[in-house]
Amino acid sequence: MGKKGVFICIEGLDGSGKTTQAVLLTERLYKSHNAIYTAEPSHGKTGTFIRECCLYEKKRLPTAAEALLFAADRIEHIENEIKPALAEGKMVICDRYIYSSLAYQGSAGLSLDWIKTINSHALQPDFGIFIDVSPERVLERLQRKKSVMETLETQQKVREIYMKFVEKGELIKIDGGKPKDVVADALYSKVLSLLKTVT
Ligand SMILES: Nc1ncnc2c1ncn2[C@@H]1O[C@H](COP(=O)(O)OP(=O)(O)OP(=O)(O)O)[C@@H](O)[C@H]1O
Ligand SMILES: [Mg+2]
Repeated sequence: MGKKGVFICIEGLDGSGKTTQAVLLTERLYKSHNAIYTAEPSHGKTGTFIRECCLYEKKRLPTAAEALLFAADRIEHIENEIKPALAEGKMVICDRYIYSSLAYQGSAGLSLDWIKTINSHALQPDFGIFIDVSPERVLERLQRKKSVMETLETQQKVREIYMKFVEKGELIKIDGGKPKDVVADALYSKVLSLLKTVT
């Protein structure tokens, strides 16, 4: 089964509006491009374990173990959901993907090369979008629900790593500091212009 659809990942800090924007983008591209929304950690076995046992626990797993779990979840997600959808010609819009592993576990001290190695099975997305919101602003938005990964210093380090990929041209930056509908319009036009380069 070959890949026919388009694979887009949406990245950004916690609270930057990834879910809001990924859902709005999926709604806009549902009819024209058969778009579906999906997210990591996935709803597979490993993803469920990560969400239930890692994200909100005070006692964290060693970072490398966490990185391996995210990489394992990614394989499950790709094999069971992403590849089959792409083979049917769907557009897959994925809320967090490999750049989240690089940015979060990288900010926690793991080597980016090692994170890439354990993710070498991961399908390359056609486009990666980085919704950029300042670390200070996201923490204001997240007052009500903070996970263990959300301190100012962590968010700053995470943004630095994301920005490396923006500078390399692997991620395309969208200004996420504007109102939701303004960000949604900018994202939609950007994706439409990117689609012209692959279809
Ligand atoms: N452009 C925006 N301006 C102001 N508030 C926003 C904007 N986009 C999203 N929000 C609000 O910020 C909060 C976080 O948004 P959302 O859940 O979409 O972010 P996220 O990046 O998916 O977060 P997480 O990493 O926790 O999954 C929500 O309360 C949402 O309504
Ligand atoms: Mg979200």
